[in-house]
Amino acid sequence: MKSYRIRDRRDILKRGMLISGSMSIESEVLEIIKPKQHEIEHIFDAAKNLKNAVENYIRDGNLSATEVRFVGSFAKDTFLSDPDLDIFLMFPPDVPRETLESEGLRVGEDILHGSRMYSEHPYTRGKFMGLDVDMVPCYILENTKKLQSSVDRTPFHTEYVLSHLEQKQKDDVRLLKKFMKGIAAYGAEPNTRGFSGYLCELLVIKYGGFRQVLEAASEWREGIVIEIEGRGPVSVAPMTVYDPVDPRRNVASAVHLDTMSLFIVASQAYLQSPDIRFFFPVDRRVMTQEELRSKAEHHGSRLLTIVFKRPNVIEDNLYSQLWKTQYALTRKMNEFDFTVLRSIHEMDDREMRIVFELERDLLSKTFKHVGPPVGVSNADSFLKKWKSNEYGEPFIEDGTWNVIAERMYITAKEMLSEEVAIAGIGRELDPETMVIRDHEDTIKCTPADLLTELLDPRMSWEN
Ligand code: UTP
Ligand code: MN
Repeated sequence: MKSYRIRDRRDILKRGMLISGSMSIESEVLEIIKPKQHEIEHIFDAAKNLKNAVENYIRDGNLSATEVRFVGSFAKDTFLSDPDLDIFLMFPPDVPRETLESEGLRVGEDILHGSRMYSEHPYTRGKFMGLDVDMVPCYILENTKKLQSSVDRTPFHTEYVLSHLEQKQKDDVRLLKKFMKGIAAYGAEPNTRGFSGYLCELLVIKYGGFRQVLEAASEWREGIVIEIEGRGPVSVAPMTVYDPVDPRRNVASAVHLDTMSLFIVASQAYLQSPDIRFFFPVDRRVMTQEELRSKAEHHGSRLLTIVFKRPNVIEDNLYSQLWKTQYALTRKMNEFDFTVLRSIHEMDDREMRIVFELERDLLSKTFKHVGPPVGVSNADSFLKKWKSNEYGEPFIEDGTWNVIAERMYITAKEMLSEEVAIAGIGRELDPETMVIRDHEDTIKCTPADLLTELLDPRMSWEN
């Protein structure tokens, strides 16, 4: 990244222009991302109808929920175009948990015709008048001291944001969320490992506005601790933001060190030279097979793809398993001397795939096997075992016995096909469905956009 230094008057003038230019970038972005009047009307209309439908259902069916409430960005007026609705069914604390769950799911099924989701407890995700809806049953609580489940905190979040976020800061939240989306750091889901909407809201409350959040983030380092209403217990995490409604909780617990680092770098780069591409990244040009082949040749590296059939499991769970698998196979590859330069993954409706760029995918047939020091008691058995070894007798080096032995695996492909079952891959990935593509097959069959990203990584705003 270029560092910015003010060298002379011309630079100062240029910098001034950038700043005023950036103001118009931000208003331009807001113009696009703020929901339009007709859209807002439709959302409010849908929300009203949904609330009525749920309230009637509860009354007619004599359910134990006593209140229906919107939470999330709709309730906080921090939503972008095409928002989802988060609607909570509130149950008094004396209602048994089973009742809360079964009644909550029944409303979801009958009104949203949605599918069951599981966080800590089940809820329903479906559609209503064209909008995505999450319907979640939770308990009405006085405070966050005795939570039964983490969703019980959500209504407190809504209240906190409503009472602490000023009207004009709502646009700052929208800008920050869109910025996070643009650089692919938005969302606390396992694939993104990033910043939730609530975390964006808290950052704006803490620092004052979009610009100020970026300025603060430019200075963040691993282990940063941010308090808004106070500090909770010490937490070990790349970043900690104590939840103002419950200091025991780190709102940034899902943020991975790499996502935090991405946001730091993006903040610095944007402040240096604001650009609409941070919010609206341009799809990059995908390399042709020929370009990919010569890129790998230039690196002197080899490609390898692992493909698994996608099991029928909740997407978020699959993404954590895909990360886990990527890390596990990287360890295996390194352990067997193939040495991973870089790896990335993706998933579609049918398949999950991980691509590795390796230092090598083919090893020598033999390697040096290091044995015991000369003269220790088990040296004899070592010598006995390797006597008349086909690649030569044991020899002494640095005071220990060594022998040239044959490798168990010579290619990365055969190593993986043998070792995958004991590599510690994601629990629900089936090794039976695994396909391994070697270098040439990877170039021919693995999606070229993924390979482009692997072989020529770029920041999303630099395309
Ligand atoms: P959402 O993920 O729908 O976020 O969670 P949001 O604030 O409505 O933002 P967008 O605009 O839809 O992206 C709804 C609520 O659930 C709680 C928060 O209180 C949030 O407002 N929540 C969700 C968390 O506390 N942590 C999370 O990781 C996710
Ligand atoms: Mn939401």
